[in-house]
Amino acid sequence: MSAAALQRLRLPLIAAPMLRVSGPALVTAACRAGVVGAFPTANARTVDELDQWLTQMRESLQDAEQPGPVCPNLIIRQPRLQDDLACLVRHRVEMVITSVGSPAAVVGPLHDVGCTVFADVASVGHAEKALRAGADGLVLLSAGAGGQTGWANGMAFARAVRQFFDGPLVMAGGISDGHALWAARALGCDLGYMGTKFIATEESMADARHKAMVVSSRLDDVMRTRAFTGLDASMLRPSIEAAGLDPDQLDETVTFDEARTRFGGGTSDDKPKRWRDIWSAGHSVSGVTGIHDVAGLVAATQAEYEAARRRTADLQ
Ligand SMILES: Cc1cc2nc3c(=O)[nH]c(=O)nc-3n(C[C@H](O)[C@H](O)[C@H](O)COP(=O)(O)O)c2cc1C
Repeated sequence: MSAAALQRLRLPLIAAPMLRVSGPALVTAACRAGVVGAFPTANARTVDELDQWLTQMRESLQDAEQPGPVCPNLIIRQPRLQDDLACLVRHRVEMVITSVGSPAAVVGPLHDVGCTVFADVASVGHAEKALRAGADGLVLLSAGAGGQTGWANGMAFARAVRQFFDGPLVMAGGISDGHALWAARALGCDLGYMGTKFIATEESMADARHKAMVVSSRLDDVMRTRAFTGLDASMLRPSIEAAGLDPDQLDETVTFDEARTRFGGGTSDDKPKRWRDIWSAGHSVSGVTGIHDVAGLVAATQAEYEAARRRTADLQ
C-alpha cells in the first residue's frame, strides 16, 4: 500500500481477514466505507472462486468514491498457496497480508506487480525475520488479538519494533473502538486492525450463533489456548463449553499438525471443529454491543476516533 493509498483512507483501519467470516460482502462494504477490506484467500472454496471474487469486488467498487483497497490475506502454511498467489498476481492486487509463516516465498512475485506486502508477526524476532524476507509493512499481533494471537503487550511491542523499523506498522489486538485506534496511532502505528467487531456485522459470513456469542460475551469469556490450532489462539469459552469440552482442562501440548487432525479438516462430523463449532474472538469483544452494518460500524468508529483525538489535544 503506497503512501497515497494510506492517504486516501477515511479512517486508518483495516477490517481484518477472518476465516469463515470475511467474504465479498464484508470486504466491499469496508472498502466503500473508506477503510481497507481484507479477507483470507482460503475463504474462497477454490482458486476459480477466488478469481471470481476478485473480479466481482473490483466491478462492484467501480462506482464507489475513493474506496479503500481490497486486501487478500495469504495464509502461508496451506496447500493452495502457490495457486492463490498466482491468482493474486494475475489480478495485480494492491496490497496483501501474509500470516502463519514467513512471507519469503511470496514477496518477490507480489513486488513484481507493484503490490505492498504486510506480514503479521507475534514477536520481535518474527518482525526482524519478516523484514529480512522483504515485507514492506508489519501487522503486530499483540496479546488478546482474535484468531491466532500474540502474547506481547501491544504498547511495548509497537515501541520495540519502532526502534528498528520506520515503515508501515499495524496494531492488531484489543482495538475495541475508535479510542483504542487513536491510542495505536499515538504509539506510532499507522493503522489498526479490527477483526472481532466485524464478526458482528450484517455483511459478515459468520454463523449466526457466532455473531450472537460475540454480542453476549465479555472480555473475560476470551481465553488463549493452543489446543485447537497448535498455535496460540483466542477462543470463546462459551463455545468450548457448548462443544462439551472443559476450557480449563485442554491439552496445550499439541503440535500444529496434531491440532489439524483433532479439530481441523477431515470429513468426520462427530467431533467439534475449530472455527466451525469452536469460535474465536479477541479481547475487543468487550466493544461489541450489537449487530450493525459495516458502514454503521465504521462511522461509529470514526466518531469515537475524532472524539479521542480532540480529548488528547486537551490532555496536559
Ligand atoms: C474468527 C477469526 C478468524 C480469523 N482468521 C484469520 C485469518 O484467516 N487470517 C489472518 O491473518 N488472521 C485471522 N484472524 C485474526 C484477525 O485478522 C486479527 O488479527 C484479529 O482479529 C485482531 O484482533 P481483534 O479481533 O481483537 O480485532 C482471525 C480472527 C478471528 C476472530
